Amino acid sequence: MAQVLAIVNQKGGVAKTTTAITLAAALVECGNSTLLVDLDAQACATFSLGIDPEDLKASQSIALLLDDVDPEEHARAIRQAIQRTEDGVYLLPSVMAVASADLSLAARPGRESILARALATVRPDYDFIVIDCSPSLGLMTINALVAADEVIVPLKCETLSHRGLGQLMETIDEVRRWSNPELTVAGIVPTMFDGRTAHAQAVLADLGPRYGVAVFDSIPRSIRFAEAPAVGRTILATSPRSAGASAYRALAQAVLG
Ligand SMILES: Nc1ncnc2c1ncn2[C@@H]1O[C@H](COP(=O)(O)OP(=O)(O)O)[C@@H](O)[C@H]1O
Ligand SMILES: [Mg+2]
Repeated sequence: MAQVLAIVNQKGGVAKTTTAITLAAALVECGNSTLLVDLDAQACATFSLGIDPEDLKASQSIALLLDDVDPEEHARAIRQAIQRTEDGVYLLPSVMAVASADLSLAARPGRESILARALATVRPDYDFIVIDCSPSLGLMTINALVAADEVIVPLKCETLSHRGLGQLMETIDEVRRWSNPELTVAGIVPTMFDGRTAHAQAVLADLGPRYGVAVFDSIPRSIRFAEAPAVGRTILATSPRSAGASAYRALAQAVLG
């Protein structure tokens, strides 16, 4: 039964997508069958894993959840939409149409658990399901939190980067109280870390005590991360021996416990 990890932070540009795809690829390297679910209408995870969202119909993407059918029908459609990518990660892609999801689903009964119900049927097929969220705390992100076992929060090591983290923790508490009592925060992943600046060190030292959650080893800042998506692979394939690749392999080991 897959362990479901939601990669969440309502801020953009904090390395959610990079963390989602690279962690997923690192889990595959360790022999785990892993599905990545792209919940962001920008479809950056889809694109970064070598699939062009422009080539997909809504029914071949996570937008299939917008069809008002029962969870069994969603699960059947999901199985058909999943593609295997070159990094060995299975992908449930996103397309632009997902942008209207929060609105389209707003009036539907059980709207927070549409993803959880749909994924229930495919969970036994994988060891891990990694969900890449959009930069919002809207309905699709709530769906991710309801479907998840654990939350991973990528955070950029700079001043004010943790503004909004309190709100995220409150949202997680609320989801726990109302619909997913087992939900836990696996930890914060400090990203784009530049160990040379005292400032980054100070931001990092403050995180754990302030929010009462675990802090994983940080991911170094590296230009290699920007290069990989252009060829539709993760840094594990394009720069396998880089410090960035090692950092995500270490994160996978930490997740595997
Ligand atoms: N460790 C890193 N070092 C340098 N650049 C990074 C790193 N991680 C991510 N990036 C870059 O930062 C930008 C934002 O990352 P992304 O994963 O898309 O963030 P998000 O999904 O939170 O919006 C991308 O251009 C990505 O290549
Ligand atoms: Mg993203």
